[in-house]
Amino acid sequence: MTPRQQRSMLIRKLMFSISALEDLGRALSSEERFEVRLRSVLSGIMGSLPVARGGLFLYRAGEPLGGWLRLAALRGMDLGPGLSLPFPREVREAFPQTGAPLPCREAPPAVADYLRSYRIIFDGLEAAILQPLRYRNEFLGLVCLGPKYSGGEYGPEDLELLRIMGAYSAIGLHNQYLLTNLEEANDHLRQRAAENARLCTDLREMYRDTIRALGTAIDAKDPYTKGHSDRVARYSVAIARSMGLPEDEVGALNLASYLHDIGKLVVDNCILCKPRGLDAGEREIINRHPLISYEILSNIRFPYRDVPLLARHHHERLNGSGYPDGKKGEDLTTAMKVLSLADAFDAMTSDRPYRPALTVETALAEIVRCVRDQFDREATGAFLGILRREAEGGIADDGILATLRHGGGELSPFLIRLESSLH
Ligand SMILES: [Fe+2]
Repeated sequence: MTPRQQRSMLIRKLMFSISALEDLGRALSSEERFEVRLRSVLSGIMGSLPVARGGLFLYRAGEPLGGWLRLAALRGMDLGPGLSLPFPREVREAFPQTGAPLPCREAPPAVADYLRSYRIIFDGLEAAILQPLRYRNEFLGLVCLGPKYSGGEYGPEDLELLRIMGAYSAIGLHNQYLLTNLEEANDHLRQRAAENARLCTDLREMYRDTIRALGTAIDAKDPYTKGHSDRVARYSVAIARSMGLPEDEVGALNLASYLHDIGKLVVDNCILCKPRGLDAGEREIINRHPLISYEILSNIRFPYRDVPLLARHHHERLNGSGYPDGKKGEDLTTAMKVLSLADAFDAMTSDRPYRPALTVETALAEIVRCVRDQFDREATGAFLGILRREAEGGIADDGILATLRHGGGELSPFLIRLESSLH
């Protein structure tokens, strides 16, 4: 062969190698299932040499001998699926660290013994060459090829092409393992996140139920306050939302509505249920309940920090004549004013030992009369607006008005008059 012919032959081989590598790259990165891609990779390697028989094994570490080889793709013979061979550590370590292909006849004793131990496969493949698949120092698999189709020897260009294809395939395998690990980690994280979300919901519901149960226990202390905490919570949350208060204040109001009277738990029942004629000492004991509520609630870590203070000031009045601190309007937050209004409205519209429940009209007229001295104008206006909208839309079963006594007559014009009297 002339030098010119030799050069031309080399260029042809080079072009062929490049296109074989291109095919291999396509096979590795295709959208096919992993196993299908592995078969394409083996076909690509075999076709580029070409050889008639070959197998691709994937390595995984494991006991008892240090690892396993799983037959992932096979061509030129049939062995049935799912074959795994033990792959002892000393055999794996006998392969060249460089990632170069190993002709079987030059195999070190550990590898040669191994090939003999599994003749059924390696003799079946007429194993001529072994190409380890390594990524850096990691052993990922092995390609075993039979003799060349032409019957000729594996030349240096064949071995170099095989080495490059082996390195190329190992990178593809490594990427696949990374992706699989990432997906598994993602799945695991997704499961954990769903579990945490479930736990959070359960905890939130348990917390809400506990608060409600506590509210019911507080109400039960006094037969005339049955359902009080539930109603105060509904009124105050509706008013706060209508006034555009931030959600954390609405949340604090909701909790405080259930717990504001917790201090009553330590007040003697004879005083609490006395129909009339409390003496000064008894009055003082009753009037201390917001303070006791505050002290009890201050020991609890609520998700909103204002709950104890809201309980403390739910009987304050804007003119400073309330209790326990005699705070004036400017010292009270909007949420405190809302709670005070909701609490008073429910007290007025509930039966008491000394009088039946007031009608909505009477209670609201009284509240409007006390705006400035006792109740906040804006909160009162918001509450009237809520009730008016409800009255205009017909009284819903689960609305505020449905459970209250009415004085007869149309409620909506009455409410409009009250609202306009506020301005
Ligand atoms: Fe109270």
